[in-house]
Amino acid sequence: MARRVRPLWTSVPRQVRARVRRWRARGKSVAFVPTMGALHAGHLALIARARRAADRVVVSLFVNPLQFDNVNDLKAYPRDFTRDLGILSGAKVDLVFAPRADVFYAKDHATRVVVEGLDRVLEGAHRKGHFTGVATVVTKLLHVVEPDQLWLGQKDAQQVAVLKRMVRDLDLPVAVRVGATVREKDGLAMSSRNARLSADERAQAPALYAALRAGAQRLLHPGRAPAVHVAELAMHVVLARAKLLRVDYATLVDPRTFSAPGRDVRRGLLVVAARFPSARLIDNLPVRLGGAR
Ligand code: PAJ
Repeated sequence: MARRVRPLWTSVPRQVRARVRRWRARGKSVAFVPTMGALHAGHLALIARARRAADRVVVSLFVNPLQFDNVNDLKAYPRDFTRDLGILSGAKVDLVFAPRADVFYAKDHATRVVVEGLDRVLEGAHRKGHFTGVATVVTKLLHVVEPDQLWLGQKDAQQVAVLKRMVRDLDLPVAVRVGATVREKDGLAMSSRNARLSADERAQAPALYAALRAGAQRLLHPGRAPAVHVAELAMHVVLARAKLLRVDYATLVDPRTFSAPGRDVRRGLLVVAARFPSARLIDNLPVRLGGAR
């Protein structure tokens, strides 16, 4: 008897919910990896991690208009649904949810999920409304998929902090899991926006990771000056060599609050954001913090 072949993707929320509920009723665990498409090896590594951690993997493809503070960035965002679907069918994904923007958001959609405080600093300060857009769409997606695990990339560390706080504050029944940042050979963190860089910009782009490593080095071997200032200065020195880059910030934060770490904090995060004429890039590096601060 021919086995019924299920379609890999749907744009209909109730079809996703029904399929996931059937899996869960059979005792299967479900991992969810939200994406905006334009898939690269970073996304695929995250999906592979999710695959190892759960019985079923659901991936969403949705360029969320609510999280773009800049219309040109939204327009320029790369979209190739057929290519993405081909990649996902080779990645052993069980279901792809690709909602249509005009259906997923009703014309008079009025509700926002705001994670106060974290949305005001660093990325939040540079991209007004961005994290409210992210928190709102992820809340909607979680309500459609109802997964056991939500998988996020360390690459977007402040997004992780915002969504962990949201899940805790709203008692959402999902475990947040984080996958490591995947990099090109020269250290550049993979990103859908890298494709926009000119050859000269691409050549200078590894400066972000080089700056993070220089900062981490200074924290490992603190001298007499406060290590935080020395580390931040070291990052700025490296970034200044990339002539096409304009630095938005390069600093050390507490990864839970994204503000300056208190003296008792043991785990810090070096974060950097910088703009080329063609694209804005972000990166981060977790660091252990010792005494001497
Ligand atoms: P997007 O930028 O497509 O990223 C989807 C997921 O892949 C995010 O969790 C992101 O942190 C992770 N990711 C991106 N580059 C990575 C890399 N180089 N290494 C490891 N993981 C990486 O982030 C979003 O979409 C959106 O904000 C979303 C959460 C889908 C909400 O719209």
